[in-house]
Amino acid sequence: MSSLPEILDTRPMTLPRLMDKREAGEPIVMVTAYDFPSARAAERAGVDVVLVGDSAANTVLGYDSTVPISVDELLMLAAAVRRGLRTPLLVGDLPFGSYEISDAQAIATAQRFVKEAGCDAIKLEGGGVNAERARAIVRAGIPVMGHVGLTPQTATALGGWRAQGRTADRALELAEDALDLQAAGCFSIVFEAIPSEVAAVISSKMHVPVIGIGAGPAVDGQVLVFHDLLGIREGHGARFVKRYADLLDDMVDGVAAYAADVRSRAYPGPEHAYSVDGEELSAFRAAVEELAG
Ligand code: KIV
Repeated sequence: MSSLPEILDTRPMTLPRLMDKREAGEPIVMVTAYDFPSARAAERAGVDVVLVGDSAANTVLGYDSTVPISVDELLMLAAAVRRGLRTPLLVGDLPFGSYEISDAQAIATAQRFVKEAGCDAIKLEGGGVNAERARAIVRAGIPVMGHVGLTPQTATALGGWRAQGRTADRALELAEDALDLQAAGCFSIVFEAIPSEVAAVISSKMHVPVIGIGAGPAVDGQVLVFHDLLGIREGHGARFVKRYADLLDDMVDGVAAYAADVRSRAYPGPEHAYSVDGEELSAFRAAVEELAG
């Protein structure tokens, strides 16, 4: 049974339309994508926002963390996603080290995502000085999505891959970061791995859409990593991941079936082969005999 919406809204997603959704209490659907086919899946499924996340470092490039991925690597993926998308808002994730040094560095990197990959907006992680970077990018005319809570680029400094905001002090820091990013002009903020009650309190103080990932239901929308939700990844994911398919198992089964067919000569069959006219074949055979002596 298909879960496709009966009528797909094919109007391009805009920042005002995202805000309208928030105000109407309509959950915003965001997913990551990293290439043309994942973009096509997101487009056809009718999601609202697509993020070319730096999680590509783990999901498609095989790095151990999001830290090593470069701007050029992410730009190549983002450009492929752009080619597959028409309707959802396309957000490019600024990789670690590509925006923190100065406002000028942040603006230059954000501009590359817009000019070279066709992104509609960018995302960056963290509050503090990074809220200033967000403000600079917004002033340069590029919409910015913030990201607080568990920020994978700085997970080591946060004590590892763990939920954030479990003490009153830390929860207050997260609230300050989120409010700073909002004041800096971010059009939306991702809350990652934050206790539901804490996320609900902070969210109630925000006036831009809050997109949760492991932040419970009291936010304006949800985001999941494409490879997590479709089961294209080995190992068990974070607590907040819900799997809607087991595509890696299907992929392994498919490749194994192909390998078995090749080994047993069941593939290719006549239906996979090209034919040639009999006279042409005889002429060719004669000619090749002459050629080869
Ligand atoms: O890179 C990413 O996939 C993200 C999402 C988890 C929000 O930042």
